[in-house]
Amino acid sequence: MGKRDPGEFSARQWPDWSFWQDAHGGRGRVVVVAVNGFALLFLIARGVEIADDSHGTGLALGALVFYGLACLTGLWFGSLAPPRQRIAFVAVAFAFGAAPALLLGSPAYLTDLTYAIALGLMLLPLRYSASLGFLVVACQIAWMRLGEGRVIWGLVATLVGVTAALGTVFALSFTIGHLRAAREQVKRMAVDQERERVARDLHDVLGHSLSTMTVKLGLTRRILESSGDIDPALAEIRELEGLSRQALSDVRATVSDYRAVSLASELAGARVALRAAGVRADLPTAADDVRPELNGVFGYVVRESVTNVLRHSSAGSCRVRLGRDWVEITDDGTVAPRTAAGHGLTGLAERLAAVSGTLEHGEGPDGGFRVLARGPRLAEAVQP
Ligand SMILES: Nc1ncnc2c1ncn2[C@@H]1O[C@H](COP(=O)(O)OP(=O)(O)OP(=O)(O)O)[C@@H](O)[C@H]1O
Ligand SMILES: [Mg+2]
Repeated sequence: MGKRDPGEFSARQWPDWSFWQDAHGGRGRVVVVAVNGFALLFLIARGVEIADDSHGTGLALGALVFYGLACLTGLWFGSLAPPRQRIAFVAVAFAFGAAPALLLGSPAYLTDLTYAIALGLMLLPLRYSASLGFLVVACQIAWMRLGEGRVIWGLVATLVGVTAALGTVFALSFTIGHLRAAREQVKRMAVDQERERVARDLHDVLGHSLSTMTVKLGLTRRILESSGDIDPALAEIRELEGLSRQALSDVRATVSDYRAVSLASELAGARVALRAAGVRADLPTAADDVRPELNGVFGYVVRESVTNVLRHSSAGSCRVRLGRDWVEITDDGTVAPRTAAGHGLTGLAERLAAVSGTLEHGEGPDGGFRVLARGPRLAEAVQP
């Protein structure tokens, strides 16, 4: 129905009542139709009036009954119907609503068109329904003045007043319905974000731990196969035990969002992992200079990048350099000509974006793979 946000008000837009299709919204639909149904009870009084009238005709009474039914049907079904059907609902309501006035030759009965205009307010773009309203008021005033010589302003005021009241009910339920729908959407987005967070954290935690453990297991196997030397193999197994215990508690903490990654511990983990894989490690000894708010995210950068060095490169050495708001991981391995980012690098980019930082990755200036993460740009920052 329009390219704008359907919840945004616009006089040109076909009102979007689609939220009435949800379980919650359905109640709003019942309330609106009930309020209108109640207002339509006034037509009974009008029917009695017509029956008492000396000119009263069965035809006018029949039109009045169909008018009430047309309004209720239009309210219930029209709100979820496409534009053409909406126009048809309003047109039918107008035809039956205007019939008593035309049949009995009395402009006073045009006041009853208030319900048809209200139906228009609900189903049509405001510019159409408002024009219809003005047209009916103008017709009633003109007919009274030209046909009967005087305008009964009370009737005109009733027409305008009741229409405005019904229109306000529609506007309120429209706004409330869209607010409810927006709130539901916000809830869904929060759940999605949380799922993404858990997926990202689990990937980072398990990807690293399992990679390190695989390398260490391979090392242990080779020790046992080649020399059958029990002591170094046992030392490796003990470290493996510790790693697996650490991974388990990391997974638990990740799921409950209590996991705090620190750059210092990730550098220590990187040293163990690189040594086990026989990769020469050139790592900073301290991470104290790094801006505190970047410590955690840089920890993730080191963890994933070092895991990638173990998994994807045949590097003989790996170097990590740190600045106050940047960290760079380079290796001397071979790089495939085109590397598409997987979960790891994409997750890192998301983590950095969350702190207004950036991530670059690809072949480094001296060959090998290079990952460069920067925190938000500050005037005094000195960066590579
Ligand atoms: N140190 C590296 N040396 C060579 N290629 C690398 C290196 N680091 C990353 N790559 C390339 O970049 C790609 C994307 O890495 P990324 O970490 O995003 O995904 P992945 O490691 O393949 O999978 P995962 O989602 O498990 O992390 C890798 O598949 C690999 O081709
Ligand atoms: Mg990876």
